[in-house]
Order: sequence, then structure tokens, then C-alpha cells
Amino acid sequence: MKTAGPVVEPEGYLEHTLAQAVLERCDALALFTERPGQIHRTFLSPAMAACHAELRRWMAAAGMRVAIDIAGNVRGHYAAEKPMAPRLIIASHLDTVPHAGRYDGVLGVLLGLALVESLNHKPLSFEIEVIGFSDEEGVRFGFPFIGSRAAIQQLQSEHLQLRDADGHSLADALSAFAESTPEAGSAIFPENSAAYLEFHIEQGPVLDHENLSLAVVESIAGQSRGSVTFLGRAGHAGTTPMDLRRDALMAAAEWLLEVEAIATANPSAVATAGHVDCEPGVANTVPGLVRCTLDVRAPDDKQRRRVFERILAAAENTGIRRHIGVSHRLDYDQPSIRLDESLTALAQQALTQTGNQPRRMVSGAGHDAMVIAPYLRSAMIFLRSPDGISHHPDESVLSGDVAAALHAGREFLKLFPSWLESRQLSCTT
Ligand code: GLV
Ligand code: MN
Ligand code: MN
Repeated sequence: MKTAGPVVEPEGYLEHTLAQAVLERCDALALFTERPGQIHRTFLSPAMAACHAELRRWMAAAGMRVAIDIAGNVRGHYAAEKPMAPRLIIASHLDTVPHAGRYDGVLGVLLGLALVESLNHKPLSFEIEVIGFSDEEGVRFGFPFIGSRAAIQQLQSEHLQLRDADGHSLADALSAFAESTPEAGSAIFPENSAAYLEFHIEQGPVLDHENLSLAVVESIAGQSRGSVTFLGRAGHAGTTPMDLRRDALMAAAEWLLEVEAIATANPSAVATAGHVDCEPGVANTVPGLVRCTLDVRAPDDKQRRRVFERILAAAENTGIRRHIGVSHRLDYDQPSIRLDESLTALAQQALTQTGNQPRRMVSGAGHDAMVIAPYLRSAMIFLRSPDGISHHPDESVLSGDVAAALHAGREFLKLFPSWLESRQLSCTT
């Protein structure tokens, strides 16, 4: 009588199956939103709490001990063969911009989870912690990276005074969260944390243009974010002659075109005024007050700060010419960062060994890795963004690329002990 032989799965079967599950979970988490019909999930919101509950269930089923920390980060700990082994943190963020796509941030968290699932409950010689950070986009408080900053103890008292649109301070939001979640633990990365790995969609067109699934990120462009306010004088739209107006919106409009011109004249810098508030904001009143946000990025910090200063000077000149008061504020200056060379080389090796080109690139988008990298050796792997679309509901990802990321991630886990040894961080004590 013939006996059935062992079931042999075709190569890549596990990665393709897990990739499908990752995509289905991205769809499932997209339903946790503050605005029905759109994806909109911000720091410590009820939608975020619902998203956490689902993620916690999946993490626990994969064999992780799951906890929430006092900054609202979800943390799944996958123990090693022995206690106190070095820890690899795999993380990204769970919050979104308004009217977002479903992959920015979330995909990185779910890839971490799928990598743990691929271990089938077998422990490794090192610990893994998968983290879903509570805030990277900075939508609620106009200040990004709250979750990852808490993990490296870089939430300063001045940040805690920031207020959301309803007037609640960050300090109050965190204490209300602590009161309603008494089980929340410390946000700080534990001492055995050895390295940080983040998967993220590229959010730009380069990999799609080159027909590549993956790349490693070698550096992340710095950011200056702030705002410019134009103070004119509101007046009656029917009775105020054109030459006697001090129209704040016309001044802002003139300046906005200069924002574009200055950034265009500085290759590799980009500048965005993504939000404009106009008061009183009615059809029959000359606008009296306009506030514009300003976001300037460049791989070179000196160039970025120079461009930011020029844009502010342009606002002041517009104000003088038009008799409009101009004030401005720098909310934060995030330097550009180079990720850890040896960990990046390891990620590159994982790409090569799984049949990918070892493409390196600079990220124009900000990521949690950029605040963590100065404190913990960090690497990032990008997945192609079809058509480069991101921060938009049409954001997408290819299932084959997700499988390729899982394949490379599994290889990274295999190579990681040799990296730890090279840094004399033994797994065997
Ligand atoms: C995050 O998405 C950023 O603003 O780069
Ligand atoms: Mn984003
Ligand atoms: Mn992101």
C-alpha cells in the first residue's frame, strides 16, 4: 500500500499566503476610522482603540505577549529561546493622514506580525517586538512622531503643552488615556533592544519607475514645519475699494506662488503649504486673517534651513509691500538622518539573497525610523508604491511585492544573529 509522502509546498507558498493575509488585514484595519467612507485615524481616538483591539487579537494568536504603553503604542513581544536575549524591534505607525490610503504605516506593522507568524510559534535566539506606533503623522496635535518619541524619551515638556483642535493639551490627552487604561506600561524601549527595522511603502514613484519591488533606505530627508500668518483688515466686500483693502488672502496667495518658486529654484528641496485657514471665511467680507502651514524638506539640512528662511523672508516682503502684518512660527526642525550602515548592509544582503536588486535610496517622507535611529541602530526596507501614490485613498501595493518583503524579512531574521555577533551582542547568554 502506498503511503502519502510529506506535503511539499511550492517555493514562496508561505510568503504568498501570508502576503494575502497581510493585505486582507490592511483592508480590515481601514474600517477603523473617525470619518465613515474615508480612512482617518488619529492619536488616541476611539477608532485607534478599535484598531488596537483587532491587532492585539492577531498578535496574541501569533504567540506574542501583547501590551499597550502609556503613549498608546501597541506592543507585541515574541520571546526568545532564552530570557534576556537581544531584541529586534519591527515597527511602524497605525495613525493616518485625513482621507488616507490603507498601507502607509499599517503595512509595516502587519509585515512585522506576519514575520512572527511565519515562525510558527518556534522561538529564535533573539526576541522580536512588533510595535504599532500611536502617532507618526502628527495630525491631531500638529506634531509628528509622538509614539516613537515616547519610546526614546524624547517627548519634552514643551511638546506636552501642544493643543489639538478642541483645545485639549497633549499632556491632558495622555493623562486621560492613562486613567482609562491603568494597565498601560512604560513606552521606553527596554535595555536589551539591539536594533530597529521598519518596512514602509516608498510613497513615491522611483521603484515603480525602475520596476523594482523593494529597496533599502540609507537616509531620510530632514523636515522643517511651521506656519505663517498674514494679518490684514476685514472689511465689507461691496464697499471697500480695491486700493483701500488690506486683504490677507491676496497677500497669502502672492506668497504661496513664491513658496513654489523658491523650492523649484533649489533642486532636491520641496516645500508645501498644505493647509490654509481664512477668516472670517465668508463670501461678502474681505479676508482679514490667513494662516498657512509650511513644510520644507531636503536631504541636506543646511539647504533645508536656507530654503525655509528664504520662504519666510518672502512672506515678510509681501507683508511690507501690501501693508499686511506677517508673523511666523517654526514648530519643529527634524534633521536628516543616515540609517545604520551595518544594519542597512544586512537588509541589503537579505534583498540580494532573495533575488532582489540591492537598490538603496533616500526617503523624502518622514518615518518613525528617523527619530529612533540616533538612539537605536535602525534600517528600513521600502516596498514599491504603484504610480507613486500615497497620502491618498488610491494608495496601493502589489501582493507580489508584499510576498517579496516577507521573503526578504525572513532572510533578515536568519542573518540577524550573525549581525548581533559582529556587534558582540551574543544570543547565547
Ligand atoms: C509622513 O508621512 C510625512 O509627513 O513624511
Ligand atoms: Mn504618512
Ligand atoms: Mn508613514
